[in-house]
Amino acid sequence: MSVSGKKILIAVSGGIAAYKVHFLIRDFIKQGAEVQVIMTPDAEHFVTKLSLATLSKKPVYSDFYDNNGTWNSHVELALWADLMIVAPCTANTLSKMIHGMCDNLVIATYMSAKCPVFIAPAMDLDMYAHPSTKMNLELAESYGHFIIPAENGELASGLIGQGRMAEPATILSTVENYVTDVTVERSLEGKTVLITAGPTYEAIDPVRFIGNHSSGKMGFSLAEEASKRGAKVILISGPSSQTLTDKNVELHKVTSAKEMLAKVFEFYDKIDIGIASAAVADYAPKDIAKEKIKKNDENLTIELVKNPDILKTMGEKKTHQFLVGFALETQNEEENAKGKLQKKNLDMIVLNSLRDEGAGFKNDTNKIKIFTKTEKREFDLKSKGEVAKDILNFVESQLLK
Ligand code: C5P
Repeated sequence: MSVSGKKILIAVSGGIAAYKVHFLIRDFIKQGAEVQVIMTPDAEHFVTKLSLATLSKKPVYSDFYDNNGTWNSHVELALWADLMIVAPCTANTLSKMIHGMCDNLVIATYMSAKCPVFIAPAMDLDMYAHPSTKMNLELAESYGHFIIPAENGELASGLIGQGRMAEPATILSTVENYVTDVTVERSLEGKTVLITAGPTYEAIDPVRFIGNHSSGKMGFSLAEEASKRGAKVILISGPSSQTLTDKNVELHKVTSAKEMLAKVFEFYDKIDIGIASAAVADYAPKDIAKEKIKKNDENLTIELVKNPDILKTMGEKKTHQFLVGFALETQNEEENAKGKLQKKNLDMIVLNSLRDEGAGFKNDTNKIKIFTKTEKREFDLKSKGEVAKDILNFVESQLLK
């Protein structure tokens, strides 16, 4: 489920990372959220109320009173919010939040808030590593708040280390995934989703095959997540050791690409969304030996013929289906992914690069970029369960357009 319609209170404190808040506001507004910004007096040295107000489409407050004598009620602001995000959260603001040092509008609003609070700390590496910061972050977690950890990289001081505020896209997807988890909204109710998963095995003889290392984890995670959101899910998987915990997912096991193609087209007319996460073998032996091939000769030649491209065929026969493909690339990643989006007549493509550690085959984690014809979004390295949420959130946001 997306954050569409949610009331997001963003509290900005005084650090250089405040510049990233412009992008954060824009991203939330783009997703259909309502955004109210408040800021500490120090934050005004880094970003202007005018730019934040223009992007959020609401006046920005930094004090209890305005020049014209109006009272900005911290209690009203706090109770209005469905979610509060403190970004960037400086060491000073973090410490005040934890200890109730209520000397500005941000802290008074925070202390009045009953909604979930997300904290995106940003500070120099030594401040971030300081025992007091660590303790304050632990205390924040014990208060039930969500920490979006600072990232590693170059800092404003010129030093390199952990302390950069998480990227706006990371903050957005953390909040989106939280909203999905708590609302367990049946946001895909009434939709039928078909997912292909795993490798295919192309028989050489009765005991041997050509295959690949795909585990099927990504496709199984997508199937479970889509089912949790109320979709009717048809999962067509090649040989995989994955198991399903959700009994509502309809699992069809196949072996070869040809079998997968045939199974997909048993259902194709009736589906709303098709997600092809299977690593289909591109070639299959021309003839399958009836008996086990003996090792008589020094060399063995097996003639291979091209397998059907299942997703491309789905694209060619598309009438109303929203189609999502995957691209696993090792070079010219973005160009190749965008090329496939076009060539296979897809609505969206998920790129994972084998250059990214922890991404792609076999791993429990994945790092993706998503492309549509007009949009691009990058995500951090996450568990495949979290990646499945990101992908389905994106699909849902496209269906709403
Ligand atoms: O062309 P390439 O194999 O890189 O495209 C990858 C995408 O196409 C994936 O979504 C994959 O599931 C799908 N595909 C397919 N049938 C094939 C080859 C790829 O459905 N024979």
